[in-house]
Amino acid sequence: MKEVLEKIKAEALSVAGDLNDLKALEELRVKLLGKKGSLTAALKSLGGLKAEERPAMGQMINEVRAEIEALLSKKQEELGSLAMSFALKAEKLDVTMPGVRPYELGKKHPMTIVTDELKDIFIGLGYEVAEGPEIEEEYYSFDALNIPKHHPARDEQDTFYIEGGFVLRTQTSPMQVRTMESRKPPIKIIAPGRVFRKDEVDATHSPVFHQLEGLVVDKGITMGDLKGALSLFAKELFGGHVKTRFRPHYFPFTEPSAEMDMSCFACAGKGCRICKDSGWIELLGCGMVHPKVLSMSGIDPEIYTGFAFGMGLDRVTMQRYNITDMRLLFENDIRFLKQF
Ligand code: DAH
Repeated sequence: MKEVLEKIKAEALSVAGDLNDLKALEELRVKLLGKKGSLTAALKSLGGLKAEERPAMGQMINEVRAEIEALLSKKQEELGSLAMSFALKAEKLDVTMPGVRPYELGKKHPMTIVTDELKDIFIGLGYEVAEGPEIEEEYYSFDALNIPKHHPARDEQDTFYIEGGFVLRTQTSPMQVRTMESRKPPIKIIAPGRVFRKDEVDATHSPVFHQLEGLVVDKGITMGDLKGALSLFAKELFGGHVKTRFRPHYFPFTEPSAEMDMSCFACAGKGCRICKDSGWIELLGCGMVHPKVLSMSGIDPEIYTGFAFGMGLDRVTMQRYNITDMRLLFENDIRFLKQF
């Protein structure tokens, strides 16, 4: 019996010494200490011994068992920490390494670049920037701009109506009224933003596009102020050599109304393909705010006068960057956008 125990102990020591993974360690534990293990078998064989021999042998078996258990748990600890250090090494992450595929830096969209530039010019001229809703009340979109229910001017601007008297705004002009209702003159604002119309998509049209509205109201504002401000603006935007001209036009919310052209940036007024040989390019609509619009907005037209203007930002952007197809502005093709 004694020899058997010595053998078990020796086996435990030698096998455990060579072990290098936790699974094999567990197998060894089962082989020695498990239900069918050799030490358990030795314990069972105690029954065959003489009664006086049993206590001493029993004690010896327990001692061997304790030794083996201690050995195995020490080994388990060793192997455990070894496995952990392997794992740590394998999963090591150097956060200072450059990324495998670095994120590309975003850029400003050409529309945003041009809008920011326009804002800068007008802020430099003392204007504030106002913002208004894209889903606009029918009242602000039409009625308050002197376009009553059955006015023909509604026809060309009728678009998406939304239940409850709302419409996707077709122009930024409703911001004139919202501004006049909410503050007292002197007023000097621009309002850039998105507008919507029932246009078919082609190289120069889109049902979604952008405008910039301007409004100045104070005592003694005249058509001269309008012409001065807008001519200066065109020079700031396209260069000091740019000439401007004003043609009579009709808008329901201004009287008199005009359209402002600027000399063609491509041929300096000589006539070319871009200006269709006229030498001029249409830039914006403008006029003196209609007295009816002033009074509907709570401003006394006997005391105050004002001018307003509105321009398409998409066209200006196309001119600025020589973009020949408006769809490029909306398609979000990264190869196009990268160039700005
Ligand atoms: N809202 C007009 C349009 O979409 C542009 C416009 C013309 C705005 C004259 C104005 C203005 O403020 O006075 O065609």
